[in-house]
Amino acid sequence: MAAHALGSVAATLEELARIGASPDGGVTRTAWSPELFEAYEWLGERMRVLGLEVEVDAAGNLIGRWNAGEGKAVVAGSHLDTVPSGGKLDGALGVVAAVHAVARLQEQGFIPARPVWVTAFMDEEGTRFDASLFGSRAFAGEDVTPLGSRVDTHGTTLAEAMQERGYDIFRAGAANRLGDVHAYLELHIEQGPVLESEGTQIGAVTSIVGFRGYRVRLRGQANHAGTTPMALRRDAFVGAARIAVELRDFARERVGLTANVGKVAVLPGGSNVVPGLVELTVDTRSAVAEGVAELERFVPELIARVASEEGLEAEVEPTSSLQPVALDTGLVAAIEQAAAAEGATSRRLPSGAGHDAMVLGRYVPAAMIFIPSAGGISHSPAEHSSPEEVELGMRVLAATLARVASA
Ligand code: GLV
Ligand code: MN
Ligand code: MN
Repeated sequence: MAAHALGSVAATLEELARIGASPDGGVTRTAWSPELFEAYEWLGERMRVLGLEVEVDAAGNLIGRWNAGEGKAVVAGSHLDTVPSGGKLDGALGVVAAVHAVARLQEQGFIPARPVWVTAFMDEEGTRFDASLFGSRAFAGEDVTPLGSRVDTHGTTLAEAMQERGYDIFRAGAANRLGDVHAYLELHIEQGPVLESEGTQIGAVTSIVGFRGYRVRLRGQANHAGTTPMALRRDAFVGAARIAVELRDFARERVGLTANVGKVAVLPGGSNVVPGLVELTVDTRSAVAEGVAELERFVPELIARVASEEGLEAEVEPTSSLQPVALDTGLVAAIEQAAAAEGATSRRLPSGAGHDAMVLGRYVPAAMIFIPSAGGISHSPAEHSSPEEVELGMRVLAATLARVASA
């Protein structure tokens, strides 16, 4: 099939964004949702037209295999799951562009020396179960079974959500393909302002930030909003608010740290009730290992101190723990050469967002290509890159794939 039959990358992204479209113009395809599997069906069909062998593996990863050449595969991909009301590009770009890159290479008559696989990894975002990078972790051979007990806001466990779709958390280990992977490439929007503000077309990503994520439960005493004297209250939301503000201040005072509260549930949730229970999530990141270690010390100490001062009981559950990852220098150079060959300007830069490449990059050579994000906005319906920018990103991905799959 000729590449032109797929149309433009932007057109494919627009069509895909209809699956899970939300009224505010965003896209909602959370992990294990019917919308995500509908997207798999839709894109899987396009993979099949290119002659790829398509499967959804035991961890819910969509894989399209171009069974060419010999030996280990060059894998190109990203994810099709989104945050609630996310954009059309975060994740989808890397998968759609990989499909288009295969079509472009086929049209150019390129014969790969090794297989080329396109992947959409399950639950990169982790927004539903706080189990981010689930699919790439299973693909890389990590044990994901302990994540099965994580619950979403409706109380459904990850294991139950998998079961509803015919998957078994205890079989997810069968998704391990690490021994078959030669290298991993991921095209993504920058999700930050650097490329756009400089007018640079392509980013060659050198490293990805480290994370420490937590789920926190603060228990106080639900009570009457009018009759409970201020001095006698054990207000769980006040504790949560203090934690959010102190986290913000701590990160602001240091270079390269970020921290915020993302989800908050205030219970029982009556306007005339002193909040007795609050559940919240904490997301903290640093580009360097020392920063991650500093956060790891600070967050539990902060929560314990605020809980004690506010008369609350605190439970803290670490949900993610990832060291910063350096990407492969040889692949970074290959991206720069591919960008130059496509006539694009490029620069090296680190990634402040998490990506499946940070899992794969711990085990195999991995690299990422960034394109500019309008206004640096992401995880929002306002996320945008122009049709020309996404097309150029796809061409640089194809040219990099051709280099890496030639030997
Ligand atoms: C994933 O998008 C993350 O950086 O949280
Ligand atoms: Mn992403
Ligand atoms: Mn994201």
